[in-house]
Amino acid sequence: MTHQNTPPSSEWNLDTLLVHGGLPRPTNHHPGGDPTVLPIYASTTYTHENVDALDQAFNGKTAEGTPRYVYARQGNPNANAFEEAMAQIERGIGAVSFGSGMAAIHAALLAAGLTTGSSIIVSQDLYGPTITLLRKLFSTVGAQVLLADFGQPEIYDLIRDQEPDVIYVETISNPLVKVLDLDAISAVAREVGAISIVDSTFSPPYLVRPIEHGFDLVVHSATKYISGHGDSTGGIVISAKNILLDQLHDYGNLLGAMLSPFESHLMLRGLRTMALRVERQCSNALQIAHFLQEHPAVARVHYPGLVDHPSHAVASKLLDNEQYGGLLSFELQDQSRAAVFKFIDKLKLCTSATSLGDVFTLVSYPPISSHRTLNEQELQQMGISAGCIRLSVGIEHATDIIKDLEQALAE
Ligand SMILES: Cc1ncc(COP(=O)(O)O)c(C=O)c1O
Repeated sequence: MTHQNTPPSSEWNLDTLLVHGGLPRPTNHHPGGDPTVLPIYASTTYTHENVDALDQAFNGKTAEGTPRYVYARQGNPNANAFEEAMAQIERGIGAVSFGSGMAAIHAALLAAGLTTGSSIIVSQDLYGPTITLLRKLFSTVGAQVLLADFGQPEIYDLIRDQEPDVIYVETISNPLVKVLDLDAISAVAREVGAISIVDSTFSPPYLVRPIEHGFDLVVHSATKYISGHGDSTGGIVISAKNILLDQLHDYGNLLGAMLSPFESHLMLRGLRTMALRVERQCSNALQIAHFLQEHPAVARVHYPGLVDHPSHAVASKLLDNEQYGGLLSFELQDQSRAAVFKFIDKLKLCTSATSLGDVFTLVSYPPISSHRTLNEQELQQMGISAGCIRLSVGIEHATDIIKDLEQALAE
């Protein structure tokens, strides 16, 4: 297998990189013609021309940097192509893919050195299972885990005071879509010598690339905006530093939570259309946010694209092209569960399911899904009311989504 077409250019715009990023296409000079899309390599093992070549292949790359494979768990052409594309797009030095977002988060925390006697400060608004992972797997072995509000100015003094080994945040929070100042957070992490990790699942690289804002590791649940079609589960960690990348490769291999060749193929295919999908999702979300704001049955709308959202200024600085993402939440005037359930059950186009970033619009109710483990008081402390509903806006025509919301909101 040789690689012959043009490698990605550093001069390409992001949209072009999303379509063409990754390894150059392999060519076998097949008499019938070479495929334009990387085939799916459904093989667990790879053979080489002699044992010396196999011995070299165990290093993962030739001296010139050409990938070599021996065993699919340690690396395979499809995962590698996806990882290369993501590293180029996110401006990292490399990436490692995983079988899910949670597996990627686990590996990122291990790669950052979180273990007995070390400490981490995390955003209190993190995805629930990430907090559970920190408590169940890391606190129990003696890592110190501190939850804090990264939206408050006091956070910087707290970090200077505590000098944690690791800092972990999410670019955009769930479900109130609060946007963090990544530049300021990475700067204070550097000041105290902490490794900075950001879960950027809600803000795909078409909107922001956190390594450009000083972060060491970027995590995505690729299940969401990267796959984009609700048909594949995966995760990825992109690294800005060689030493962290080596650790990620080690943990990826040892944990065995690798992304399969087929899922890797779907992730790369999803990436190719990200610019168009996210552009439409952002413009739909803004129109829907304005519609909901005016509706008498709606008490409040949370969307960073609205000028009165507390994160509007930070989001305008951080996110590209005045696009504010495809996620929003809103609160019904009637804060009862019964009213929320009735509204969701009346929807005909928007699908009630617990994911996000797909081409179709998804609606979810945080108290029974992402925030299920929290009691009423904890939800209140986080500012999540009983009438709060989250929308992950799809690429349908905005008018059709709005019509569906309108009929479901009608008495
Ligand atoms: C912000 C965030 N991070 C991580 C995950 C976990 O990803 P996965 O379900 O692919 O393991 C999710 C899942 O919803 C998420 O919303």
